Amino acid sequence: MTELYWDPFDETMALDPYPLWRRMRDERPVYRNDKLGFYALSRYADVEAAYRDPRTYSSAYGTVLEIMTAEPMSSGMMLFMDPPAHTTLRTLVSRAFTPRRIAQLEEYVRTLCAELLDPQVGGDGFDYVRDFAVQLPSRVISELIGVDPADREEVRGQIDRAFHVEEGKGIINEVSFDATLKLHAYFSEQVEARRRAPRDDMMTALVEAEVSTGEGTRRLTTSEAADFAGLLVSGGTETVARLLGWACVLLDGHPGQRAALAADASLLRNAVEEILRHESPAPVQGRTLTRDVRLHGTTIPAGAKVVLLTGAANRDERVYADPDRFDIRRRFDGHVAFGLGIHFCLGAALARLEGRVGLKETLRRFPVWEVDHQRAARLHSSTVRGYDRLPITL
Ligand code: HEM
Repeated sequence: MTELYWDPFDETMALDPYPLWRRMRDERPVYRNDKLGFYALSRYADVEAAYRDPRTYSSAYGTVLEIMTAEPMSSGMMLFMDPPAHTTLRTLVSRAFTPRRIAQLEEYVRTLCAELLDPQVGGDGFDYVRDFAVQLPSRVISELIGVDPADREEVRGQIDRAFHVEEGKGIINEVSFDATLKLHAYFSEQVEARRRAPRDDMMTALVEAEVSTGEGTRRLTTSEAADFAGLLVSGGTETVARLLGWACVLLDGHPGQRAALAADASLLRNAVEEILRHESPAPVQGRTLTRDVRLHGTTIPAGAKVVLLTGAANRDERVYADPDRFDIRRRFDGHVAFGLGIHFCLGAALARLEGRVGLKETLRRFPVWEVDHQRAARLHSSTVRGYDRLPITL
């Protein structure tokens, strides 16, 4: 038996981490990476318990391994906050993020799919990720937030650059840093403009939402609202693009299930859940311990970085029968691809909508395709796993 070693930054390991994650669940449910200085929990029950205990498993030191800090971060992003600050912000933004506002987007998502996919009809093939899966969510987010049509091309370009991955440097590089600053400046300016002249959009809802706190009612500051818009852009673009990419690969690998889906749209909802479970687009979430935790005979000390391996939990044989089998008809209670508890993905309903409509519109036009695995390329960061380039032939 080879020594058990998992490195979230290793691109080769990320190609197929599942055998390794199975060994972690079985042999080392409290895994310790001495070289990189973190622990990892991979069993569903442990990941779930950690999510349910944010007081012990803090998000305030960052949740993305590349940028976790020794001191709490002073970020306006609720992803990197603990209660009570998180609770206040989440309550505020949830009001601007209602199920009604999301459901209203369905027709828009369908129209966008047509705009992106129709030009490919009759052709030999296209890049499913570059030409479709990345384009769709970045346009949907711009619409949701209320970016002016005249600014959308520029904002979409900046969103692309904000996700630039540089050889050797990964996701932290000058191109992405510069684009992130520009997006923040743009959103700050837009938020200010909404204060002066309200409109019927999410940015206005963000500046107008009020919440009562111990010290009275309060609204978001401009910087908080701009940070939130930035978080929506980053949380809502990359992940949905990977979800659609995985859908394309998995269905090509299971032509019988693809044909069943094309023939029966009522299977789509469950299929999207199974894709999220089987290939979780965001499989790794970081936390920092605020006290010692004793688990499976090991004491994890206060201050330790602990990785919650949602991607491994979603394949835990203690919860799912034959977990490595992809089955769009699988019956299951849930998964942790969107996290759980207080940080449960705020965009889950939108992601599900984009997944369902995106797939339906794809299958309507292209019931069959073939992935060109030779020319496909992965995108790699410690938190997002999926395809960056995905040429398909029709
Ligand atoms: C398939 C697509 C998606 C996946 C797999 C995904 C996954 C996740 C996960 C795992 C978390 C929890 C992180 C943690 O606990 O540290 C999260 C949080 C979050 N997601 Fe998503 N997400 C997706 C789509 C979206 C979309 C479309 C949006 C926005 C429109 C979005 C916005 C957010 C926000 C704002 C949070 C932070 C919530 C909080 O801290 O309270 N996500 N997401």
